Amino acid sequence: MDGNGRWAKARGELRTQGHLEGLKAAKRIVKAAADMGIRYLTLYVFSTENWKRTSDEVGFIMGLIKQYLRSELEFYEENHIRLRHAGDPGGLPQEIAAEINDMCIETKKYTGMQVILALNYGGRDEIMRAINRAAEAGENIVSLNETTLSSYMDNPDIPDPDLIIRSAGEYRTSNFLLWESAYAEYYFSPVLWPDWTEKELQNAVESYQNRERKYGGIT
Ligand code: IPE
Ligand code: MG
Repeated sequence: MDGNGRWAKARGELRTQGHLEGLKAAKRIVKAAADMGIRYLTLYVFSTENWKRTSDEVGFIMGLIKQYLRSELEFYEENHIRLRHAGDPGGLPQEIAAEINDMCIETKKYTGMQVILALNYGGRDEIMRAINRAAEAGENIVSLNETTLSSYMDNPDIPDPDLIIRSAGEYRTSNFLLWESAYAEYYFSPVLWPDWTEKELQNAVESYQNRERKYGGIT
């Protein structure tokens, strides 16, 4: 979900205003995705590298999460949304880690779309934590295979992503789902995240529907 800062700058507003608008866009897109019948939607909210930003900006984003995570409970209920977390909870402020954990438990009963909040998430960090968890669980690291390592990722029950979307015209993955994205289709859009509407999501899905997925094979 890139482009919040540029969206604000273009309006002569503070970057934080961009994050506020970005949050509204996230809610629009979650609703649209749920209505389209998408089963899993991962939102890259805050990366392991985003801590490099100013403490004002980091504090504002953490504040937004703290303020809105629970207050949207009715929205999750209405849309049968189950929340999940990807990332290292250990590196998050304790009250936010606890709130996410609570919300994951409270929404576990909802059987609609699963929304995975990638928060303090890094692809390399996830792989390293998985290796460490495997070692701690007594797996033989020397003979570790892909299936076993996959089972130690943050959400092993969630299928690999079919489509990865990046907004705001950058052509990078920025450490997102490195392990899981091996055969994902990518969609890059110039539209800044706060400007995203259902239409942008439909365009991305339509593009995906016209791809031919071969997984390294031939058709
Ligand atoms: C994405 O928007 C939001 C987060 C990473 C939290 P940016 O804040 O990266 O927006 P730009 O890239 O500065 O426009
Ligand atoms: Mg950015």
